[in-house]
Amino acid sequence: MRHSVLSCAIALTTAAAGLAAPTPAMAGEGMWVPQQLPEIAGPLRKAGLRLDPKQLADLTGDPMGAVVSLGGCTASFVSPQGLVATNHHCAYGAIQLNSTPEKNLMRDGFNAATLQEEVSAGPNARIYALDSIQDVTEEVEDVIARAPDAYARTQALETLEKQLVAECEREPGYRCRLYSFMGGTAYRLFRNLEIKDVRLVYAPPGSIGNYGGEIDNWMWPRHTGDFAFYRAYVGKDGKPAAFSPDNVPYRPKVWLKIADRPLGPGDFVMVAGYPGYTNRYALATDFDATESWTYPTVGQHYKSLVALVEAEGKKNPDIAVKYANTVRGWQNTLKNYDGQLEGFKRIGAGETKRKEEAAVLDWLRQQGDAGKPALEAHAKLVALSGQAQATRERDLVFGQLRNTGVLGVATQLYRLAIERAKPDAEREPGYQQRDLPTIEGGLKQFERRYHPRMDRLLQQYWLRQYVKLPEAQRLPALDKWLGGSDEKAIERALDRLAKTRLGNADARMALLKTDRKGFEASNDPAVQFAVAIMPAVLQIEREVDTRTGEALVARPVFLKAVADYRKSRGQAVYPDANSSLRITFGQVTGYTKLDGSKQQPFTRLEEVAAKATGVEPFDAPQALLDAIKAKRYGGLADRRLGTVPVNFLSDLDITGGNSGSPVLDARGRLVGLAFDGNWESVSSNWVFDPKMTRMIAVDQRYMRWIMQEVFPAPRLLEEMGVAPKKR
Ligand code: ARG
Repeated sequence: MRHSVLSCAIALTTAAAGLAAPTPAMAGEGMWVPQQLPEIAGPLRKAGLRLDPKQLADLTGDPMGAVVSLGGCTASFVSPQGLVATNHHCAYGAIQLNSTPEKNLMRDGFNAATLQEEVSAGPNARIYALDSIQDVTEEVEDVIARAPDAYARTQALETLEKQLVAECEREPGYRCRLYSFMGGTAYRLFRNLEIKDVRLVYAPPGSIGNYGGEIDNWMWPRHTGDFAFYRAYVGKDGKPAAFSPDNVPYRPKVWLKIADRPLGPGDFVMVAGYPGYTNRYALATDFDATESWTYPTVGQHYKSLVALVEAEGKKNPDIAVKYANTVRGWQNTLKNYDGQLEGFKRIGAGETKRKEEAAVLDWLRQQGDAGKPALEAHAKLVALSGQAQATRERDLVFGQLRNTGVLGVATQLYRLAIERAKPDAEREPGYQQRDLPTIEGGLKQFERRYHPRMDRLLQQYWLRQYVKLPEAQRLPALDKWLGGSDEKAIERALDRLAKTRLGNADARMALLKTDRKGFEASNDPAVQFAVAIMPAVLQIEREVDTRTGEALVARPVFLKAVADYRKSRGQAVYPDANSSLRITFGQVTGYTKLDGSKQQPFTRLEEVAAKATGVEPFDAPQALLDAIKAKRYGGLADRRLGTVPVNFLSDLDITGGNSGSPVLDARGRLVGLAFDGNWESVSSNWVFDPKMTRMIAVDQRYMRWIMQEVFPAPRLLEEMGVAPKKR
């Protein structure tokens, strides 16, 4: 629930502004921050960009201003009426929220024929359009330096962050966020226009938008129509406003134009988007812990949870619909972890990490006194990792338990009541006035993703995990609440919790107004759980804040040394992904799999039909198969391919969060939407592998073909200026 820059300080890293220009990799590797555009201008031109690279530096101009964040996914404006293109899987949550077993939009798709038919993507759907970026490194360094100890440092940064954000958000309609780059080597404040009325406009049926399903997820060759459309709405005054039938389409300053030249092998492509997290500057010890424990453990839990929900979903269609989005998330993550683990072995990632780190340490030692601070910082960071690893089992299980279903609601609302007793500026990030709309939105949509029977089974799952923890990691507060360590104690607890009233929307809303005392006197069993465990939550938070405070000083010192070392060897230096805007560029290209098979960069329409079995997830709609059979290409065939291209590969450097990113050609025109990476690419989150790392995108020609020939949306084609000429 903490959205603060601190919550991710441990994982983050970057390049400071104004680096001495190293020789960046020609293409492919590199998630460049906009501040590095001057540095990559030459390579961009060499790679084939036909725009002036300076044009890209105008982040609110054409084309960069069209790129927006959905918070977790990327998207772009594609019409002057605020039409937004993104992935089907990015809109999936909104599609799910609007689905029931009887009217299942995940299965059947959605196609609004008029503006009036466009439906809300949910109270928490957002579109963030970048307004400005401000460097605040000096202010942050200043408060960090003045704080007396580790815990105080974390508090001081948090206080400054809240001040900066409050100032930045003074004008209504904007949302601001502080980002830490390169482990705290640079801090930048991003200001975004926050569009709060987001509507679902178009989504193809699941048998197109999710063709291949989990089987094809992270795989190539690929044939998925992973695209959907939203529209941004604002109040009549043109300013962001919560959903209202009176709202009108937002008119963006810039929007992308669809490419008018066919994309082919070797062509320049670039992506601007919001990649979530990478760990390319992580310590070897953190890599080892992730490879040996985190990924296998979390992956195993997610596998069990998927099986649990799928079994219930088979018996109860209501559960299947309500948990579809949750299950999809687990599946995506667990398969990604499996892919990373396999990739680590393939490329010897652990060995590379350890050698790299040893080389940096050697290089520092050779520098005598000058190298000492970075060596000490490294030792400190290793010790901090060890501390975090000591309670990782507890932190995983307890974290999952207290965030599940009604327990999550009760814990969040009790914490809110505690924080609300303080002046707004002193509250924990995530519980301030500015966070209330999101919290309320979550409560409103809660029951669309909740079923009491399933919630009980999930509580049971995590309680069973909890009682298996080693004695030293047990929490006295939770032990006391549970009253035993056996199945009987768990069953008693579950029976108690079954009496909660929080499955009811009014009961949840009432808790938004309840004060701390009200919670502590409540007889609702889920609320009683929250009250019982809160001391443990706060205690753990304090420990984490203290470690974070240590890392706030140590990490920038060590990562600056790593960056200097890499630069001294002519290697590219760019910050790890941190959910902020990045640019990556390269070319359309296939690759060779480990088994020697050569992969062409484009897949074709006929392969969609060849793959069809009639059974999910290869249940291509009849209309699609008919159109292919009749070779109804609708003027969208590629001359070289002799048919319509479906998905394509390029050597760009993306990760989760980039989903939905517009892929632009040399002239800045839209050629497709990024939606996945290949199986061999996922280990690049830690160690980049240029040979095998490929981005998978859906070709705009396939999107248009679907909207012309299969699941027609003439209104949208017209709006994007690509309506087919009368045939
Ligand atoms: N692997 C993609 C990502 O993480 C998600 C693809 C969604 N499709 C699916 N079949 N789960 O961005």
